[in-house]
Amino acid sequence: MTRLHSRSVARLEGRVAVPGDKSISHRALMLAALATGESRIAGLLESEDVMATAAALRAMGVEIEKRGEDAWRVHGVGVGGLASPADVIDCGNSGTTARLLMGLLASQPLHAVLSGDASLRRRPMGRVMRPLAEFGAVFEARDGEYLPLLVRGTAAPLAVDYRLPVASAQVKSAILLAALNTPGTTMVREPVPARDHSERMLAAAGAAIDVATEDGERLIRVSGERELAPLDLGVPGDISSAAFPIVAALLAPAGHVRIVDVGVNPTRTGLLDALAAMGAEIVVSNRREAGGEPVADLEIAGGQALHGTDFDPALAPRMIDEYPVLFVAAACAEGASRFSGLSELRVKESDRIATMAAGLAAAGVRVEEQADGLVIEGCGGPVPGGARVATRLDHRIAMAFLVLGLCAREPVAIDDARPIATSFPGFVALMNRLGARIAAH
Ligand code: S3P
Repeated sequence: MTRLHSRSVARLEGRVAVPGDKSISHRALMLAALATGESRIAGLLESEDVMATAAALRAMGVEIEKRGEDAWRVHGVGVGGLASPADVIDCGNSGTTARLLMGLLASQPLHAVLSGDASLRRRPMGRVMRPLAEFGAVFEARDGEYLPLLVRGTAAPLAVDYRLPVASAQVKSAILLAALNTPGTTMVREPVPARDHSERMLAAAGAAIDVATEDGERLIRVSGERELAPLDLGVPGDISSAAFPIVAALLAPAGHVRIVDVGVNPTRTGLLDALAAMGAEIVVSNRREAGGEPVADLEIAGGQALHGTDFDPALAPRMIDEYPVLFVAAACAEGASRFSGLSELRVKESDRIATMAAGLAAAGVRVEEQADGLVIEGCGGPVPGGARVATRLDHRIAMAFLVLGLCAREPVAIDDARPIATSFPGFVALMNRLGARIAAH
């Protein structure tokens, strides 16, 4: 275990770029694996989660290599061209790897066993197994829906018409990936839109995909058994990683931070709206398109007074991974913040409602845990701190509490920093370059 702590700062200052978007990186590797020909991916996130996807695809016969500083090459095997892996696939901590791979496997006559770390083995897979079973895939999972899990894909997949019962981009994407090797037209109905990177990338690869609105729902149609063209893609910075320096910069008493080349896909920018509702001013500049995704620079001045508020649960699908660090902002804001409609947070890398409530309380913040949310009494400035927090194999919990320590009277320590490498290698160095004081404990 690597223990780290952080202590209060007077200012954060500088210009940084965060690593590539995790969601886009997983999808880029998977679609490139199915393309006919060689894809080139720049800016790929080289984190443990994404490398778990790369290793899984290699085990299924795809050649993936890094050439030079920042260019990954993927030799696609074509839709339907994957091979059964010779060993158990270790998805590590990565729900996206497990769930999207299940989609890839479902519509080919493949046999694979997926497993992962203790966190991933606690996460529900039934939400993906149910729609994929309608294609004809067969699953055998521990206790009905947990890893380790055996997938037997089908040689004769049937197109499905599926309405998503939870707003989940992983479930949606698993179905869209299964649809690629399925004759006929698969339909996914999305009452509440989740991140749309898969749809954008499929369109860019020339898939037969159509997105429309019908009766107030998003309706995505994919006609399968079409060739995919290789990708030539630059991955934008991950707004879910940028979230940590954004909140840290806002909470610092002074300074100015610019984060360049951040993906600002509207299905991902809920945090900016949530912080604006707390009174934060974040300047979004230099807007442009890159690889079919909107990208921009974000500027944050320090010393901003944030106030608590009642957060609209409708924001959740657009910022589901950003709640841990938003809770930190709420802890340092003036007044109470109320969060509801967040039961999905209980099935992330950890139970993020319980883990955050415990850590905030340990750091002296008044917090009330509810079934689907939290009420946080903001300290109107630095929190007491002086706590050691259990991060429960959850990268975003680890980073959120290191941000809290920057705005605490006594240092905040975390018990295990290793999970940070699943999504944000270089987090500590980047934060310290801005002036943070994060060090070994
Ligand atoms: C992701 C979707 C979200 C998110 C996860 C990445 C994706 O999960 O929490 O970190 O890449 O599709 P859900 O689909 O379960 O909401």
